[in-house]
Amino acid sequence: MAHTVKLALVGCGGISGAHTHGYKDLYGRGCREFAVTACCDVRSACAESRADEIAAFQGKRPQVFASVDDLLRADVAEAADVCTPHCFHHSTAIPLLQAGLHVMCEKPLGITVKASKKIIEAADKAGVVLATAENARRSPTSRACVWAIRDAKLIGDMRLATVTYLANSQFDYTQYAMKWRGVSLLTGGGMIMDSGAHFADMQTLMFGPVEQVNCQWDVFDKRPILDAPIVGDTHADVEDTWTVVIQFASGMRTVWTYGRSFYGDKVEFGNYYGSAGTMYDLGFKFHCFQGGGEALLADGTRLSNDDLQARYQATLSEADKARLFPYGCTDSMGIEVWDYIDSIRNRRKPEMDGWDGLNAKVLCEACFESGLARVPVKVQDVLDGKIDAFQRRFDDYWGI
Ligand SMILES: NC(=O)c1ccc[n+]([C@@H]2O[C@H](COP(=O)([O-])OP(=O)(O)OC[C@H]3O[C@@H](n4cnc5c(N)ncnc54)[C@H](O)[C@@H]3O)[C@@H](O)[C@H]2O)c1
Repeated sequence: MAHTVKLALVGCGGISGAHTHGYKDLYGRGCREFAVTACCDVRSACAESRADEIAAFQGKRPQVFASVDDLLRADVAEAADVCTPHCFHHSTAIPLLQAGLHVMCEKPLGITVKASKKIIEAADKAGVVLATAENARRSPTSRACVWAIRDAKLIGDMRLATVTYLANSQFDYTQYAMKWRGVSLLTGGGMIMDSGAHFADMQTLMFGPVEQVNCQWDVFDKRPILDAPIVGDTHADVEDTWTVVIQFASGMRTVWTYGRSFYGDKVEFGNYYGSAGTMYDLGFKFHCFQGGGEALLADGTRLSNDDLQARYQATLSEADKARLFPYGCTDSMGIEVWDYIDSIRNRRKPEMDGWDGLNAKVLCEACFESGLARVPVKVQDVLDGKIDAFQRRFDDYWGI
């Protein structure tokens, strides 16, 4: 008989709020498959306020801990939902896994390919569930557009995608969550693998394996950052501009361009061209189709976001709906956390396990490696660890 999963939230900053919203949404729909029993954060105030928020819908207040060690000693959880900064993913997830807890770790799985492999190894050794928290693919709109492009082939055989975001949208380095995002030692690289992790996952979900990437990236924003975690006073050193050509094994190409240090009007589009039509991304283009999509077919027919939704939903059985939109939930975080809980209760693979997380991550790392070496790079060589010049600094610093 499947049981109630006792969960610890580890890292109670920004995204843990969205996870909590997901838990609350499920709870409100009658789901009692989980109980959040602990909130853990080195900044105790974050853990305290998240615990209050959870108590308000769950009735029982989770216990609060200031470290993973304290959490493990108390033995109040069998599973963890890890939402720490990138540089702490391996150092929080691995002890949890070694203690026999199931772990869902926010994207990107580890700070480097090597760190990600170590997390996967620890899970395999402990024989527990490892899930990658990747929500962009789980929205009804994303699922419908993946179906439209990949399964229904509404726009025919894919030829080219071009996705661009150019704007003047500087990070606010006075905020804790942006301080670590500006420092490569803490984040492992900038938006190529932050929002880029969602992009990489959606691209491979839609278009299959990637053969190679050819990337150029620049760091224009080198403003000071004060009191960053671990490193203290420093300056921004992550890429804020890039262009990459992603070459898929199928022959399809995606051209991906980003810059946040450019004055003038914002330029933003995500266009997907096939032999029988075009699809347009209506939301934030790096979370492909999470904000909706529409199609223009070769015969002039336009399919709105609602049309695509209706067509997709009509293909789903009741069992599909229960799995993809559990309890009728359409919140991508709610779906994500339920999938993790259900994979523990039923001892099945989560929709995105560690290898799936690494698959998205390695595409991002290949972009960094290509930009550093100034040559096209094969993704397989980065996965195999044959090319790691960009990542070696982080592996060395963190002793990975
Ligand atoms: N799915 C999404 O759309 C999405 C969006 C934002 C962030 N994220 C991911 O979520 C993760 C966290 O990002 P964020 O924006 O919430 O960052 P954040 O800085 O807002 O929160 C991170 C929290 O972790 C805590 N922390 C640091 N070290 C810790 C440790 N050793 N043990 C326990 N807690 C610790 C910090 O005090 C902080 O409260 C990152 O991996 C990020 O890429 C995902």
